[in-house]
Amino acid sequence: MNKPVTARTAAALAAPTALPSGHMLLDNMVLNKDTAFSAEERQQYGIDGLLPAAIEGLDRQLERVMRHLDAKPSDLERYIYLIGLADRNETLFYRTLMSDPARFLPIVYDPTVADACLAFGHIYRRPRGMYITPKMKGRIAEVLRNWPQRDVRFLCVSTGGRILGLGDIGANGMGIPIGKLQLYTACAGVPPDCMLPVLLDIGTTNAQLRADPLYLGLRQPPIPAEELDALTEEFVNAVQEVFPGCCIHFEDWKGTDAIRMLERYGDKVLCYNDDIQGTASVTLAGITTALQIIDKPLTAQRVLFFGAGSAGIGIANLIVSAMQSQGLSQEAARARVSLFDINGLVEPSRTDLSPQQKVYAHRAEASKELVATIERFKPDILIGVSTKGGTFTQPVVEAMSRLNERPIIFALSNPTDKAECTAEQAYTWSKGKALYAAGVQFPDVTLNGQAFHPGQANNFYIFPAVGLATYAARPKRLTDACCIAAAQASADQVGPELRARGMLYPSQKHILQTQVTTAVRVAEFMFDQGLAQAQRPDDIRAWLEGQLYQPQYQTA
Ligand code: NAI
Repeated sequence: MNKPVTARTAAALAAPTALPSGHMLLDNMVLNKDTAFSAEERQQYGIDGLLPAAIEGLDRQLERVMRHLDAKPSDLERYIYLIGLADRNETLFYRTLMSDPARFLPIVYDPTVADACLAFGHIYRRPRGMYITPKMKGRIAEVLRNWPQRDVRFLCVSTGGRILGLGDIGANGMGIPIGKLQLYTACAGVPPDCMLPVLLDIGTTNAQLRADPLYLGLRQPPIPAEELDALTEEFVNAVQEVFPGCCIHFEDWKGTDAIRMLERYGDKVLCYNDDIQGTASVTLAGITTALQIIDKPLTAQRVLFFGAGSAGIGIANLIVSAMQSQGLSQEAARARVSLFDINGLVEPSRTDLSPQQKVYAHRAEASKELVATIERFKPDILIGVSTKGGTFTQPVVEAMSRLNERPIIFALSNPTDKAECTAEQAYTWSKGKALYAAGVQFPDVTLNGQAFHPGQANNFYIFPAVGLATYAARPKRLTDACCIAAAQASADQVGPELRARGMLYPSQKHILQTQVTTAVRVAEFMFDQGLAQAQRPDDIRAWLEGQLYQPQYQTA
């Protein structure tokens, strides 16, 4: 497979003599090869004498990086080192990440990125991506043109309004779009130079941050919702104008803002919300695997959500869409889904329901008791998205186990202390019967000599693959059906050996391979549905593989 010829590399290759020379070349993160420049290149580009004598290959450079990383005292220090490496030598950075994604993803993304975001203003070295503020209103398109690339296919934008479990951290949230886009490349080979991280700096409610002298964002409370809507409208239109065909990936906006933006733009422009669609898709993927294990159809399941916020509603809606795609009417599908939140069962006598919750308010006795609700509703699947740790108690798991031979129990709230129950609790209390997944990775559990490997419903099983398919197929829209196709593709890759150990997601050992297989299925679906704007190739896999970013140096 060849390294794709992107705008930057194409220009460089077409006119090698036009490459920057001397320190300009060494300071260019895309073109820099550091000690890998050959003797001829060193002479040709005026860098002879600017590098030590040794001429090394990428593997030797990687060995040095690994030693540096091993010597660091914490993952946050490793994060800082890796971001610095990305700034100096992008190829070596991705070579490092892609050498062992399972090891490095938790460093460049969750959970270490949370520490990095908290400390953003303190560990800041140099700018990455773009910052858009309300002060730019009326000239956002002009500002976007300051970005040096024109072929931007993905733009990940956050307001920093709800970052992981950290709440509103304003401009410190920039670590998230940066990290998320790096995962598109590290997990699925999406070329890095077609991506743009953006922080929509609208102020923050976080008074402590605003008082921090090293805080880098606007020191003001967030602009009101109407102003945010107007700013976002201008931003979305400006993206269409400056980067036509670019997919806008909304990430970590405040829950209500996230839902509103997806409702407003989902049908209008190419956009994606990983917190809503990615979460829903990865949950559906786990459910699909679980149902394949017990050989039952989705359309026969009853699903109870514990937590009815943005994650719960998003998952519920996608499950309903998936049931509809398998033949149920919307009404029949919705009747199979029930919600339970901080005020108890969502039912018609409740006066505090949002329009999104109301569609799941089925006639039923009011209840504030989860076990009683389980006994009445008789769910096959219980999904925790409540942010309240320890709420799936022994009686809850036992009630699910009484009703079902293999209860499907997902405790998705994170971080770890927020999980509704741990893997060990789920397996122990269900006597090993539960098909369990969590939002975090719990360690393996051994029960009566049997080893269980709990699944982690991590969005990275979905969004990089959807990203790769989107990059290549250039769809008009990213529909729910695309997310359902991704979920099915993920489920189909969990082999019998993994299933026997309770795994509901593919192994992390071969992430790139898994993502490409999922992307092939999603791209195929986009072509079949007439969503794709690229020309349909004869062999979609070969076509996708030919476009993958390879962390290799160009020879001039
Ligand atoms: P949210 O704040 O929008 O919703 C929380 C919901 O839980 C609300 O409906 C609330 O009424 C309910 N709730 C709170 N306390 C409760 C209690 N004691 N009993 C019953 N219900 C209670 O939060 P969001 O965005 O929906 O996220 C929920 C959780 O899901 C978070 O912990 C988040 O980290 C996790 N999550 C996990 C993902 C994954 O594993 N891939 C992806 C997205 C979210």
